[in-house]
Amino acid sequence: MSSKNSMKQGEKVLFGIFGAFIVAAIIGYVVLEFVRMNSDKPLFEVKTSYEFTEEGRRGSKIFRESGCTACHRAMRNGTNMGLSLDGLGSKRSYEYIYSFLKKPEETYAAATIDHGMRPKEAAYVPEMDDVDLRAIAAFLFGLKAEQGAASSPMPPEGKSQFIDNMLKAVAPEGWKDKYQDVRESKDAEE
Ligand code: HEC
Repeated sequence: MSSKNSMKQGEKVLFGIFGAFIVAAIIGYVVLEFVRMNSDKPLFEVKTSYEFTEEGRRGSKIFRESGCTACHRAMRNGTNMGLSLDGLGSKRSYEYIYSFLKKPEETYAAATIDHGMRPKEAAYVPEMDDVDLRAIAAFLFGLKAEQGAASSPMPPEGKSQFIDNMLKAVAPEGWKDKYQDVRESKDAEE
């Protein structure tokens, strides 16, 4: 009878490993919360921000209601699968954004996938009301990113061992002849 209820050796090992994972997760969570509550610095620095005009606020609503969030993400709204538009206002001008919405294929530096003429999926965008497109452009231009944010065109201030190592690992020989290192051009300006 007792052999029916007691666990086999393999089951004990499996449950043991499973239990160890749960214990480790609980300890990890408690430590994380403890550190977070006792630290005066935020765990993750927020480096994106927004500043909206009245028009931009209206644009934010139109953005959410016009199917943009099916492919985009902005201010915690939308999908992670597509192109994030957070910080766009630090990368592009208002004129660029408006012009992209109106005439994507002429404005975008590369071939477009979804914006453009039918049957592209976002072909409805240039056909929207002009006032609405201007409001959306005002909204997107209000999405700013500080230097060093993932959505910022500028890498973090100062030397970064991580970026240097990544460059060494992935950049092909002679990349400096073809491309410009934005970090160096910034140093030169100062
Ligand atoms: C079917 C998917 C899809 C939908 C819907 C869509 N987009 Fe896009 N969007 C893209 C893709 C993909 C790109 C990159 C350019 C391209 O390939 O078309 C892009 C690029 C952009 C860009 C340019 C970003 C840059 O850095 O140049 C803006 C601005 C933009 N979309 C705004 C919008 C707005 C506003 C809407 C809603 C009215 C919208 N998109 C709806 C897929 C979509």
